[in-house]
Order: sequence, then C-alpha cells, then structure tokens
Amino acid sequence: MVTKIGRRGVRDLGSRRVYPLHADISEMLFTPEEIQHRVKELAAEIVREHQGEPLILISILKGSVVFLVDLMRHIPTSCSIDFIGISSYEGAKSSGVVRVTTDLRESIEGRAVVVVEDIIDTGLTMVYLRDNFLTRKPKSLKICALLDKPANREIAIRPDYLGFTIPNRFVVGYGLDYREQYRNLAYIGVLRESVYTPPTGERSLA
Ligand code: IMP
Repeated sequence: MVTKIGRRGVRDLGSRRVYPLHADISEMLFTPEEIQHRVKELAAEIVREHQGEPLILISILKGSVVFLVDLMRHIPTSCSIDFIGISSYEGAKSSGVVRVTTDLRESIEGRAVVVVEDIIDTGLTMVYLRDNFLTRKPKSLKICALLDKPANREIAIRPDYLGFTIPNRFVVGYGLDYREQYRNLAYIGVLRESVYTPPTGERSLA
C-alpha cells in the first residue's frame, strides 16, 4: 500500500519505508517491494506452466533488462537469455514504425520462448515481434509484460503473463526511460508532463 506524503516522497505503509521522489516524477505507481513481489509471482507462473521445460527468455532492449534480470533469478529451471533491439519510440510518443536494431544471437527454432517486455502500449511492437518470432518456428511462444496500458491499444494483443495494468500515462523507472533517463529509478512513477511539454504550452512529444 502506497500513501503520498507530499512533494518529497511517498510512504510505503507495508514496509514503512519512505522513498524520495525524483523531482520529475509526479506520482509513484509501484514501490520496489510491490514490483519485486509481483515479479516473483510471474516467475512462479511461468515455471508452473512450462513444467520444467528449458526456456529461452528474450528481453527487448533496453527497457525490459531490469525486469529480465529480476525475473530470471526466480526461475530455478534451465533457462537461457537473449536480447533483441527494437526501435519504435521517439521521446514519449510511438513513431508507429517498428524496426529491429539488434537481432537475436541464438536460434529459437523448436524452443520454448518467453518474450520479456517492459510495457505494452499501442501493441505495435509486440505484434510485430510475435509475428517475427513465429516465422522462426519456436516450439511455443509466450509473452510476459510487466506493464500494460490497454487504453492506448491500436492493435489487439494480450500478454500471457502480466504484472500490472496501468492508466494511459507515461511512466518511467525500473528500466523504463524517457530519452534514456530514469531507467535507474527503483520504483515505477509517472513522468511530469512538463518534462516533455515546452513552457509555451505548445505540446511536443518528440
Ligand atoms: P508499443 O509498440 O506502443 O506497445 O510500445 C512498446 C514500447 O514503447 C515499450 O517497450 C517501451 O519501450 C515504450 N513505451 C510505451 N509506453 C511507455 C511508457 O509509458 N514509458 C516508457 N516507455 C514506454
């Protein structure tokens, strides 16, 4: 349970800790403890459903790296990792055009694949990746997303494993960035609109 205590930070009543909020963050959505708890539950779900089958976890660079690192440490069964680089975001807005910037190093043919994503927003990235991976003939393909913003969906897709559903706000922290900043925050918070809105009032999401 998270309770706001003014502009300086929030108090997590469960652990009684106080987290100082970064000045650019208007609201904390999930504390480090809440994230860790949910990540552990997701890992347990993945392990249970795959029944000890060796897994390959594919992390989508760079936002899901922190999530991957925590998730994999709760998977005791055989598992390897790989990374794919994708670009579709420019600042705080999706360009709508997805392209692979760094491809996988391993073959996924005949393997049980779990795609690890930080957040599904319009859905364009995940649909593109799912279709791309399916052409490589994996034995199975599951999607694990930490966050989902269904209000902004442009194409139908649902993760098989989901951490949290969130409102249509731009969030950062725990690997998620705005222009490569804020990935190192241990919590997930809402980025102040003023950070990506020019002072003239003319809105720019680029
Ligand atoms: P989609 O193609 O619109 O679903 O976008 C997915 C990708 O957009 C994610 O992997 C993130 O890199 C980025 N993204 C979407 N929403 C946010 C957000 O609120 N904060 C940070 N990155 C986001």
